Amino acid sequence: MEETLLLQAKHIKKQFAGVYALTEGSLNLKKGSIHALCGGNGAGKSTFLNILMGVFNHDGGDILLDGKQVNFDNPAQALAAGIAIITQELSPIPYMSVAENIFLGREPMCIQGLFIDYAQMLQQSRDLLSKLNFDVDSTMLMVDLSLAQVQLIEIAKAISHHGRILIMDEPTSAIGEAETAILFAAITQLKAQGVGIIYVTHRLSEIFQIADEYTVFRDGCFIEQGLIKDINREYLVQKIVGHKVMRSLRDNASNADDLSQEILLNVSDYSRIGTRTPSFNNIDLNLKKGEILGIYGLMGAGRSAFLNTLYGLAKPDRGLVQINGKEVHIQSPKDAINAGIAFIPKDRKGSGIVGCRSIRENITLTALPKFSPFGWLNRQYEALTVNKMKEMFNIRMSSMDLWVEQLSGGNQQKVVFSKVLLTDPKILLCDEPTRGVDEGAKQEIYKFLSSFVATGKGVIVISSELDEILQISDRILVFKKGKIVEELQRGEATHESLTSCAS
Ligand SMILES: Nc1ncnc2c1ncn2[C@@H]1O[C@H](COP(=O)(O)OP(=O)(O)OP(=O)(O)O)[C@@H](O)[C@H]1O
Ligand SMILES: [Mg+2]
Repeated sequence: MEETLLLQAKHIKKQFAGVYALTEGSLNLKKGSIHALCGGNGAGKSTFLNILMGVFNHDGGDILLDGKQVNFDNPAQALAAGIAIITQELSPIPYMSVAENIFLGREPMCIQGLFIDYAQMLQQSRDLLSKLNFDVDSTMLMVDLSLAQVQLIEIAKAISHHGRILIMDEPTSAIGEAETAILFAAITQLKAQGVGIIYVTHRLSEIFQIADEYTVFRDGCFIEQGLIKDINREYLVQKIVGHKVMRSLRDNASNADDLSQEILLNVSDYSRIGTRTPSFNNIDLNLKKGEILGIYGLMGAGRSAFLNTLYGLAKPDRGLVQINGKEVHIQSPKDAINAGIAFIPKDRKGSGIVGCRSIRENITLTALPKFSPFGWLNRQYEALTVNKMKEMFNIRMSSMDLWVEQLSGGNQQKVVFSKVLLTDPKILLCDEPTRGVDEGAKQEIYKFLSSFVATGKGVIVISSELDEILQISDRILVFKKGKIVEELQRGEATHESLTSCAS
């Protein structure tokens, strides 16, 4: 007899303002299976998952749980039926503690249910995090956590519901390899207990590492379902994009020898010794004209704090920064932009974009004077520029007046790139630049970075994806506990050398 599927979604349809985001969403989830839901940016994955969770209603199709039709009006109903989700865009409550966030709405009570039992809640939170091996203090406020820690808390919270189905929409996009390994151990345990897991990621190596089955969506349509053991990476990429993709290395990949020796940016004895954020100490580095400098390290190594500070989001305690040999004092992002520095932050929601503003406004926001030289906005020029950016990064949008938060995750990232480029920077700082971006768009971003530096500009890029950092960097610095512990040239660095230096 055929086993009953845990969850079955058939021919799900959804349109937003008359435009179809999903025309044919289907998926069959078995018990004790890790099922990868794959598709390019804007393929309809998050829309589909939001429908399963009752966040959006759907315009057609059926959802069956244990063979019985269900229709959730809101996420609380889905949770009650045993389905939990880690959403793509995280939304913690900033001024509540870790424990309060995890147990929000189901706090343990005392004195006949009249009061929240804080001690009990704290203990349960600590037990949960230590069982999962997540190293985060339960009493900390969410606002004080790094993005990676916030993501771990969302994961812990979803797992703590002890559901039968766990949906993860890009759970690893903000965490590094070490935390990913811990997460995978937890997922494998859940699988052994019979939980069905739907897993979305653009990191294809993860899919081949843990998934049992896959379903591909393209342009809002179901394309194919199968077993991971029957396919390889190239096949999967082809199904996702609909045609063959060449994996291009950096086009004019330079040797250290043919890089210009002219120094664009020099940082010396740069230090920030804080207690709340990971700090960095005594950083000496230079960035040459035409160079892509990679920074690798584990979570908490101080990489992001360093870039944030360089961009003026925090103040250093000591140190000297020079651009083209001249000392600069950067106290704020405005100073950084004036000095020719631009920044692609890791947390696009926090500091990259304004979700409830249009795509057009977001792209032109930081370069507004360009579009309004005499005080009034030149709409035509503005629209032309936005269209140019749309084509350059292949942003999938039905209109430039759509709110940015209505775009798919990967397309939001492309908006961040567009916005930053318009400030005409000489130095581009990127923290996880391809977070949530699909394979095709990743190659576009790499090509863009290459052409950007080809004109004598420079890029510093943090990436936790080993493949990525190896592919794009001319030189890699490894951060550990706030210090640079190693410098490796292109060709010298390998997966093994980077991981062993970083840990
Ligand atoms: N609230 C909304 N209003 C209008 N359009 C929307 C809304 N939410 C999603 N869309 C559109 O639906 C399409 C599918 O988006 P979805 O977020 O499901 O893609 P995705 O597969 O999750 O992509 P990614 O990998 O980039 O996260 C996109 O074109 C997006 O702009
Ligand atoms: Mg998505």
